[in-house]
Amino acid sequence: MNELEEIKNKVDIVEYIGKYVPLKQSGRNFKGCCPFHNEKTASFMVSPEKQIFHCFGCGKGGDIFTFTEEIEGVDFVTALREMAEKAGVKLPDRGGVRKEPTDRLFEINEQVCDLYEKELWKDANKKIVKYLLDRGMEEKTIKTFRLGFAPQNGDLIVKELGVIGYLDEDLLKSGIAKERNSKILDQFFNRITFPIMNAGGRVVGFTARVLDDSLPKYVNTPETPIYHKSSVLFGFDKAKEQIRKQNHVIIVEGQMDAIFSYQAGVKNVVASSGTALTEAHLDLIKRFTKNIKMAFDVDMAGQNATRRAIELAWEREFNIKVISVPEGKDPADLVKSDPKKWVEACRKAKYVVDYIFDSTFEKYNTTNILDKKQATKELLVMIKKLPDPVERDHYLNLLATRVGVSAAALEAALAKVKSVVPKESKPTDQSAVGSQAPAQTREEYTLSMLLLTPKYYEFFFNKLEPVDFTDERLRGLVEGILKYTEKNEDLQVQPWIKTLDTKDSNYVSQLQMMTENEFADASEETLNEELFYAVSRLKRECIEREKKVLGDKMAAADRSADSKLMRELMSELQQIIEKERNL
Ligand code: CTP
Ligand code: MN
Repeated sequence: MNELEEIKNKVDIVEYIGKYVPLKQSGRNFKGCCPFHNEKTASFMVSPEKQIFHCFGCGKGGDIFTFTEEIEGVDFVTALREMAEKAGVKLPDRGGVRKEPTDRLFEINEQVCDLYEKELWKDANKKIVKYLLDRGMEEKTIKTFRLGFAPQNGDLIVKELGVIGYLDEDLLKSGIAKERNSKILDQFFNRITFPIMNAGGRVVGFTARVLDDSLPKYVNTPETPIYHKSSVLFGFDKAKEQIRKQNHVIIVEGQMDAIFSYQAGVKNVVASSGTALTEAHLDLIKRFTKNIKMAFDVDMAGQNATRRAIELAWEREFNIKVISVPEGKDPADLVKSDPKKWVEACRKAKYVVDYIFDSTFEKYNTTNILDKKQATKELLVMIKKLPDPVERDHYLNLLATRVGVSAAALEAALAKVKSVVPKESKPTDQSAVGSQAPAQTREEYTLSMLLLTPKYYEFFFNKLEPVDFTDERLRGLVEGILKYTEKNEDLQVQPWIKTLDTKDSNYVSQLQMMTENEFADASEETLNEELFYAVSRLKRECIEREKKVLGDKMAAADRSADSKLMRELMSELQQIIEKERNL
């Protein structure tokens, strides 16, 4: 018996989930409309007996912890703490339920956040507060976001934490200290600090701004076991309730923008902190809403990162709108000049495709034939990527009208536009070679990521097995790689390819080319993360598939009121849920 079980026994799952979803009794179970996808007929089921929930519609399911993770967008540990508190179960400090080596890192970050805050409000630092007030920030806002000040001295924070009893090793690991010439120094000094919280509101790192024009403007916590720049959204913990209520999220670039937006009353706002939206960001947002309003430069021809973000969001069926901010300004500037202007700009957000159409036509002078060709080319690339055929047709016609050519001519041109986005499991034409390369399936994409980052093969095979690949050819190749690594204790891609027959080796080279192209300028970190997400996504898909099959069986058992079968299926479901937990 452990604390997990104890909590489960104490929390009434029907009552708990019932706070989020109206539930009605149906035999031994309870039913309602799924909070994780849109539906009109109830296919969301809660079993008080098994202490689990499951949706026949979207396949989501789990226990009270999974439910909290999903509905609150928090990690397992946060969900566990929250539920423990509700149930009045005391979690052991060390050992016991899942010992978390990251606990200490959270503690350090919390302590440091507190120290920085205290520092800011000291008399000696009035001028720092004045800087913020002069920028239009209210005292209440400064406190809500827990802004602080990292003092001058090179190791003040390190020393203070040393006194409390933290080891240098942990301070380095938490990212608040760094090593220079075998001395342990503060990571931040003489900067305004902005704590970065995870979805559960726990401090995981900082970004810190200079007080003048010196560079770099911002210094961030390096990657740590609890802080991953590419998956955290600044302000999410404070925004999530409003995101769900208003059913959309506003994404800005800088944390200053997010803070000022919040102050102006637009509270469903998060900042991507200078990076483009990643899959991990979208995964988090998806639990709360499918509607995004972006307030940054969305130029399909220009910024690669933004383009990829939009494509990712399209793939996942997000609706994207773009908030337009006057040239040379950002949301924070707008709020400073007049908060109403920002509120208004958010309200007037344009559908992303219309926005790109308009901005492309603004950029080019379409009375000039070369410009017209260029604008057409850029817009065709975008139209090609629209997932919905009806929409594609609509915008193709619109483009034809605007540039004054026939829709047929554009259609022919569209057919020639290359598309290299990894698409949802679409059967591939494996014999096709050449410039008109077919889109990759998710499985192909995952394998090609492994080929791009072979040194992480152990990670890959820790998560995935050959049977997770439904495509027979890919399954064979993955099996081959697994055997190869068992024999050689390493993965050398080229030597492995040499062991294949011509057809397979051509196919593999083709897979390699696709990702090599796409990630030509990617950093090691990006590659590592991309592999991680590709692998987890595929695994999640496998589990979803299993759940779906089981869900169908359960729905049938439910209809025929076969309660014995139902109980067996539920036990199977519990096992799958356990697998998912260990993902
Ligand atoms: N950024 C960063 N490192 C830098 C510069 C920027 O991490 N050296 C990130 C920060 O999260 C910043 C965002 O990119 O918030 C946008 O940068 P920028 O527009 O230059 O800053 P602002 O948010 O406008 O900050 P301020 O208004 O205080 O100048
Ligand atoms: Mn700014």
